[in-house]
Amino acid sequence: MAPRPRGAGGRDVRRAVAEAARTLAAAGVAAPRTDAELLAAHVLGVPRGALLLVDAFAPAAAARYAALVARRAAREPLQHLTGVAGFRRLELAVGPGVFVPRPETELLAGWGVAAAAALAAPLVVDLCAGSGAVALAVAQEVPAARVVAVEREPAALAWLRRNVAARAAAGDRPIEVVAGDVADPGLLAELAGAVDVLLCNPPYVPVGTPVPAEVAEHDPAVAVFGGPDGLAVLRPVADRAAALLRAGGGLGVEHDDAHGAAVPALLAAGGRFTDVRAHADLTGRPRFCTARRVAD
Ligand SMILES: C[S@@+](CC[C@H](N)C(=O)[O-])C[C@H]1O[C@@H](n2cnc3c(N)ncnc32)[C@H](O)[C@@H]1O
Repeated sequence: MAPRPRGAGGRDVRRAVAEAARTLAAAGVAAPRTDAELLAAHVLGVPRGALLLVDAFAPAAAARYAALVARRAAREPLQHLTGVAGFRRLELAVGPGVFVPRPETELLAGWGVAAAAALAAPLVVDLCAGSGAVALAVAQEVPAARVVAVEREPAALAWLRRNVAARAAAGDRPIEVVAGDVADPGLLAELAGAVDVLLCNPPYVPVGTPVPAEVAEHDPAVAVFGGPDGLAVLRPVADRAAALLRAGGGLGVEHDDAHGAAVPALLAAGGRFTDVRAHADLTGRPRFCTARRVAD
């Protein structure tokens, strides 16, 4: 891209970004410089790494940038402002009504990808699919997989279907979307005992836990909070996993960092799963748990 000359009335990009970063820091945004740069790149239509090549915002772009920075300072999630969330190799459409996929969930998806890739024609189920981050990552990275994604909430289902259609149009094997509740014992009854890999990032924050403004005001509460102890959705997920997985099939569930002991204990109890393993995220916090279905 050719460097853009500083035009009459244009606003210096570096100065605007520095000022935006100060505004966002004062508003309590966790990564103010990063967000200031990403919003500038979004407005200018360039990759973040090419920002240095652009000298000035045109006046209309400067106004758009200022408006987005003000919204970010009011703690709207960055991804709602840009309309996309990166997840592994995917760019997913996100906005009001759907949970913004988090970087730590890439680890659970990566475990699922590895488990599925070891099989010739795996059947993979993603419960609590939200935007489709986990399911679509598996479909993209393991083309031989049949992937089924389950979500209950109508607003999230609309985003899920939009992302599924976009990935199918991009050439990935289409995934199957099921509107359903993980608490329903009849969920996916036709797949009972046939699933090779079952993945789930359920709502798991205990009700009453303080969360950042972006989460409290913009992530759907049903996507975040998992009852008084945070395990209200995870318990039926374990039951569905026991019913759906074939003997030897793999389960991977993300959980709150306070559940590093509770979730492995929950899966180990009852004799339905073996090989229960706790996994930490990149900061060393307990983040997801895997297990293998035993034969009945
Ligand atoms: C933490 S979000 C995870 C979304 C996505 N899998 C991800 O990792 O970004 C949890 C999702 O579970 C959905 N959900 C909550 N309770 C559910 C239930 N009982 N049955 C099915 N989906 C549910 C929410 O609507 C939300 O989309």
